[in-house]
Amino acid sequence: MLSGENLIKEYKKTHPGSEKLHERAVKVFAADGATHQSRILKPFRPYITHAKGSRKWDVDGNEYIDFVMGHGTLILGHSHPAIVQAVQEQMAKGVHYGENHELEVEWAELIKSMLPMAERVEFCSCGQEANMMAIRLGRAFTGRRKVLRFVENYHGWADELATLGSAGAVADEVSVIPFNNLNRLEEELAKKEYAVLLTEGGGAHMDGQVPIDTDFVRALSDLAHKYGTVWVLDEVVTGFRDAPGGWQSLVGVRPDLTTLGKCVGGGLPVGAVAGRADIMEGLNPEAPYERRVNHPGTWNANPLLSSAGIAACKLYQGGEPQKVARQRADYLREKGNKILKERNVNGRLYSRTIVHFYVGPIDYEPSDDTMPPTRDIEKIMAPTAAATQGRLCLHLLQRGVATMDGEIFILSAAHTKEDIDQTVKAFGDSVDAMIAEGTLSQA
Ligand SMILES: Cc1ncc(COP(=O)(O)O)c(C=O)c1O
Repeated sequence: MLSGENLIKEYKKTHPGSEKLHERAVKVFAADGATHQSRILKPFRPYITHAKGSRKWDVDGNEYIDFVMGHGTLILGHSHPAIVQAVQEQMAKGVHYGENHELEVEWAELIKSMLPMAERVEFCSCGQEANMMAIRLGRAFTGRRKVLRFVENYHGWADELATLGSAGAVADEVSVIPFNNLNRLEEELAKKEYAVLLTEGGGAHMDGQVPIDTDFVRALSDLAHKYGTVWVLDEVVTGFRDAPGGWQSLVGVRPDLTTLGKCVGGGLPVGAVAGRADIMEGLNPEAPYERRVNHPGTWNANPLLSSAGIAACKLYQGGEPQKVARQRADYLREKGNKILKERNVNGRLYSRTIVHFYVGPIDYEPSDDTMPPTRDIEKIMAPTAAATQGRLCLHLLQRGVATMDGEIFILSAAHTKEDIDQTVKAFGDSVDAMIAEGTLSQA
């Protein structure tokens, strides 16, 4: 059986080209040869040469069903024909005019048409830049400095966004509190010190590895306003992935500012802030000096990116790609959980178009598999769980399935039912191998 020591041996045997590249990479990239922390894996992740639709291929000719999907950017799948055509045509017309152009206007209009709260839109280069801009706008609007965030919510790695206490990060003006506790939140907001309350769409980590209560979310706008704080909803992952109106349309909330990224660029790097005109007015050069926010950025809404963003947003508008991705995710969870339950494994698949793999005690069986089988954040985020998920990641890679850290399966409209059937087979085989080698526990 492909388990225990055999797994690493077999993996190395079938990935000699990737191993050679990894040996070169560790001499240039300090993070164990990787250029993003989620691409670190022992012994190494595969080196990819090309991708199409739901699949990607590595330097050794191994094929993978891809559930990393560009870290969540590719809800349309790899190299969607509409994006390829738009980018190829625009490439020939110019990548960067250093001037205003019609494409940026059209793109922002498309975003506005999907997000009712988007009275104004502003572009930047990635999701964390959007969060940085939203914080700056909130500070300029309120005249306050402090930022309030929730535990485990991810917004980027810049000073005010990083995990508190991270080496090198200066976050003197940031407080982090638990979520799903309105009294605790009100206690903090009532200090009337906070410019911004920054929260992640769907809950903490990639559309809700740790889900947030919808009743709690629905109270955020009024509570923030009661104490003069701007509520920023980070929809970098969920924006147009969960629905044409974003996660906020599913929950029925209206934040003051929404930050966007990932899917909005159709696979090219983007960030955007959308929201209330009075707050965004800080970007107007005629705003009073003490409220004025500068907004340079070499790559803001460049024509190449705008062409991809327009092509993608036109497809998102009708909601079809989101619907297909959700159907595939539902199918994966249903089949995967059947395997886990049959084997009596301490683990479940849950959430929406980004499927999370929970490893730990089953505290209750939720009524549907959008929720994890525990309410305990410590159990969901347990370091022991991460080790098990990492092992699953390697098992799945060796069986032709690429996930993020063995914890996240990111679905797209390009995944077919056959892809999911093949994935479920690989998942079942991996689970069996892990039970046999003793790396996955049973109840
Ligand atoms: C919710 C959320 N916000 C912000 C970011 C940062 O986006 P970027 O990596 O584009 O800067 C991420 C990245 O994964 C994210 O998941």
